[in-house]
Amino acid sequence: MEPFVFFGGKGGVGKTTVSCAYGVKCARSGLETLVVSTDPAHSVTDVFDQPFGDDPESVDGVDNLDAMEIDPDTEVNRHLEEIRNDLSEQVSAAMVNEINQQLEMAHRTPGAYESALFDRFVEVMREADPYDRVVFDTSPTGSTLRLLGLPEFLEGWIDRLMHKRRKSIDLFEKAAIGNKEPRRVMDGDPVLARLQGRKEFFEFAGGALREDAAFFFVLNPDQLSVNETRRAIAEMREQDLSVRGLVANRLTPEPDPDENGRGARYLRARVATEAERLQQVRETFDPPLVAEITTRTAEVRGDLLDEVAEELDIETDAREPTFV
Ligand SMILES: Nc1ncnc2c1ncn2[C@@H]1O[C@H](COP(=O)(O)OP(=O)(O)O)[C@@H](O)[C@H]1O
Ligand SMILES: [Mg+2]
Repeated sequence: MEPFVFFGGKGGVGKTTVSCAYGVKCARSGLETLVVSTDPAHSVTDVFDQPFGDDPESVDGVDNLDAMEIDPDTEVNRHLEEIRNDLSEQVSAAMVNEINQQLEMAHRTPGAYESALFDRFVEVMREADPYDRVVFDTSPTGSTLRLLGLPEFLEGWIDRLMHKRRKSIDLFEKAAIGNKEPRRVMDGDPVLARLQGRKEFFEFAGGALREDAAFFFVLNPDQLSVNETRRAIAEMREQDLSVRGLVANRLTPEPDPDENGRGARYLRARVATEAERLQQVRETFDPPLVAEITTRTAEVRGDLLDEVAEELDIETDAREPTFV
């Protein structure tokens, strides 16, 4: 299977849990594995009961497994700083102030959060050399996926800008030096360089996601989660990305057949409702169900993680990346 594996889905469905379980599974099968988590509320740090930060560190007690935690707030700020630095070299001080205020506002939107995270993901993929497998506990959605169309869009834009700049530079030089051969001074143009850089970045991202990544969605057996998953699969399809499989998590366990108390009847009714939801998934979704994980009585960590890993019918073999 592809070297990069993403587990998407709504908040709380079990992405981090399943990512860690799959990471453990890959590591136990001998692959050098990295799990990347992004949600500070519940992350690799909680699952492995060990602090992780922005650099990969090895997970205690599991050979071949590293983990890291990306803090979205830090990434948004880093993004902001980068743009600020670029701009301050190009516009007047008065403008910088105005632009700063606009930037601050733009960066408080959910889209900015997602796209800053995505930038960091792409960097991690670029630097994934030491690993056979990298597992991400979230998947790009909506506004971020649309960014993958950016290279084509930017290409036309860059070409037009180049053309304009070239013309104005030519004119300027003609005026200054008469009819002598004008120099081409396009190379050092900071605006074009930045656009070109972003174009290459998203070209790489699109290539790596299409060639070297497999996507799974985690869902819970309720109508809201099923509907949400349907939307997410369609969003991916719009960008020519296919979803490899679905992980149903937090299924209600079946009571023993001879039990008939109130608790047992409640569980049986819930199991029936959930079975209907899962049947709907099997019949109407393209990607297959690759796991059905019951709700444990406590958070999934330690030995429970290995138990859940066993229940994932997802290959662990990893081929070399073709695009990176
Ligand atoms: N099968 C399960 N049984 C028991 N608890 C679970 C199970 N799956 C997830 N949880 C718990 O639910 C909470 C949310 O799971 P998490 O993996 O962080 O979701 P997400 O990453 O999608 O937000 C965590 O406290 C986790 O321990
Ligand atoms: Mg999470």
